[in-house]
Amino acid sequence: MKNQRILLIIGGGIAAYKALELIRRAQDRGYEVTVVMTKAAAQFVTPLSVSTLAKGKLYANLFDPHEEMDVGHIRLSRQADIVVVAPATADLMAKMSHGLADDLASATLLANDRPVLIAPGMNPKMWDHPATRRNRAQLVEDGVHFIGPMSGEMAEANEAGTGRMAEPAMILDAIDGLLGPLRHGPLSGKHVLITAGPTHEPIDPVRYIANRSSGKQGYAIAAAAHAAGADVTLVSGPVQLGAPDGVRLVTVETARQMKHAVVEALPADIAILCAAVADWRTTQEADKKQKKDGSGKPPILELTENPDILLYVSREAEPRPELVIGFAAETDHLIEHATAKRQRKGCDWLVANDVSQEGVMGGDTNAVHLIRDQGIDAWPKADKQAVADRLVEEIIQHFQ
Ligand code: PMT
Repeated sequence: MKNQRILLIIGGGIAAYKALELIRRAQDRGYEVTVVMTKAAAQFVTPLSVSTLAKGKLYANLFDPHEEMDVGHIRLSRQADIVVVAPATADLMAKMSHGLADDLASATLLANDRPVLIAPGMNPKMWDHPATRRNRAQLVEDGVHFIGPMSGEMAEANEAGTGRMAEPAMILDAIDGLLGPLRHGPLSGKHVLITAGPTHEPIDPVRYIANRSSGKQGYAIAAAAHAAGADVTLVSGPVQLGAPDGVRLVTVETARQMKHAVVEALPADIAILCAAVADWRTTQEADKKQKKDGSGKPPILELTENPDILLYVSREAEPRPELVIGFAAETDHLIEHATAKRQRKGCDWLVANDVSQEGVMGGDTNAVHLIRDQGIDAWPKADKQAVADRLVEEIIQHFQ
């Protein structure tokens, strides 16, 4: 898979520390990050931490004989899909607007022909200064994209106003927005619809029927599909996980809501139904908390079947996703039950997991069998992200 590449220029401002998180989160979204630091940036964040996170791809010196041997500042920007300046200080903005090139950062920016996104971060008085205003007007005219700055408390005591650098997630959303149409990867152009987590089926306003699914397996698949360039919709029951970067998350509570969200999200090229949907719900949800009546007799809950989402996607959805993958959580006769389930539900592939093993439902590991027309593959126990990566790899091969 070929990742998109960001050349990140870190300017010398207090917000430089946020560049570390920016690098990490960009990598999580599948970007390759190369970094140029200004001399002043090294006063705020150590080159060692930056270099460690950027896997050694850190450059700082315009006159380094090794870096300049192959015209480093020109190569650096040409190898990137986008150049991002964060934080963009007033000084860097002034250099950019005047075309100065007296250090590696400014020389790289002048030699650059890629889209440029800057995230200004500076004191509000500097941001508001007529000189900075002139510079930013010039930069806008030159086609530079801006994200932020934001309003709020500043690092300086008792200072507030506009000048705070945008948060890393916002900067990444802006990068996604700029590179979105160019997003590549083996699954680019494909819409992948994933369900994850449990559903909660209310009994009364305070109680519900649920299961132990944590959503980890489905969320890991969503992250892997996004990293492969897919456009991902993740329909999730109630879990304690944050949305994977770059993934469209739709949260639901009940099986009926999950089905509705899935129908709304269709059409999709690939559907991966990993949620542990409750098979049953109560026929009637009580509108008040159910009380003990003193008789010692527990209430009788009458249950009814929930809609089967996988069955619907496999057999009724129009157009049907080209590849429908179901999961089966079994505690016994794994292959026998899972094979029958695949046939009954009409999905193309079925991932069978043995949930009698500790750590599968709710935990961090999974041991699965992939059941397809061409046979059954047993995968060794691995963490859920590794299982997700391998499943996405199989999907990529299927579409090649
Ligand atoms: O969430 P984690 O803690 O990471 O755990 C992951 C997992 C064990 C929950 C996951 O890997 C898994 O096995 N998910 C499917 C669990 C399940 O409900 O299996 P099932 O055998 O009951 O259902 C079979 C298939 O039908 C599943 O694809 C399920 O999403 C789907 N289904 C089931 C019932 C229903 N009403 N609608 C459905 O779409």
